[in-house]
Amino acid sequence: MMARPILRGTVYLVGAGPGDPELITVRGLNLLRQADVVVHDRLVHPELLESASPRAHLIDVGKAPGRHTCSQDEINRILIQYARQGRAVVRLKGGDPFVFGRGGEECLALARAGVPYEVVPGISSAIAVPAYAGIPLTHRGVAGQFTVVTGHGGAVDWNSLPAEGTLVILMGVERLGEIAAALVERGRAAGTPVAVIFTGTTHAQHVVDGTLADIADRARGIAPPATIVVGPVAGLRAGIDWFDPSQLRPRTATLPGDAFSPLHQPVKVAA
Ligand SMILES: C[S@@+](CC[C@H](N)C(=O)[O-])C[C@H]1O[C@@H](n2cnc3c(N)ncnc32)[C@H](O)[C@@H]1O
Repeated sequence: MMARPILRGTVYLVGAGPGDPELITVRGLNLLRQADVVVHDRLVHPELLESASPRAHLIDVGKAPGRHTCSQDEINRILIQYARQGRAVVRLKGGDPFVFGRGGEECLALARAGVPYEVVPGISSAIAVPAYAGIPLTHRGVAGQFTVVTGHGGAVDWNSLPAEGTLVILMGVERLGEIAAALVERGRAAGTPVAVIFTGTTHAQHVVDGTLADIADRARGIAPPATIVVGPVAGLRAGIDWFDPSQLRPRTATLPGDAFSPLHQPVKVAA
């Protein structure tokens, strides 16, 4: 596949995917390889940065709780400054730039400055992290809809959420007890399955299972980044827990009777 060439004086907002460096899109990787400047977030996998050109200037503007490397205004200024110098700039953001990623704010700032930009969607942690934990967000007869919310601050009106279906909560692990209590108070059964997935899709993936009644106790000590899945689909994990983080590949015997064992053999891929 021919890579379209990168344009100078342009900013590319590229979704890096949720953690596993191979979950970036082909377009995103092609741009990363050609960029003069890469402005990246904290959650972007270091191996992905190794794909940047050796002559590229890498700038870490990552925000960690309690450690603000750069304000959003500073990030906007950096993007505009390098683009105006005629550089090809990749703004590499965790997951998808437009899912709790402040990508829209960066687009508006670039538009106001007259800087051309392109948005390259990424695979959001909201869908990929549950997938690597063996949780389909929808499942026939179990859940016909899913809702993605942030657990951060007071951004969500818990009363407005559907009483049925799957709830995916990003940035909520530090308020897990409060969130679980709010959901039970608004009608979700205390026995509803919940999974909390920490550093999903990577070597360090760790999953805590529980219910709305006990998940806060079970997941005590889990720090961000974590994705919370609430709903009956979280209970399907027991049968679909396919990903072995220690090997970064499918488990060899996931199902009773090892029903699909031929599919679990590593396959050589032609270069
Ligand atoms: C600021 S939001 C950015 C979301 C991102 N734009 C996306 O589409 O995935 C960061 C939150 O995403 C979730 N997250 C990101 N990477 C994750 C990972 N590898 N495992 C679990 N949750 C993750 C966590 O809830 C984290 O606090």
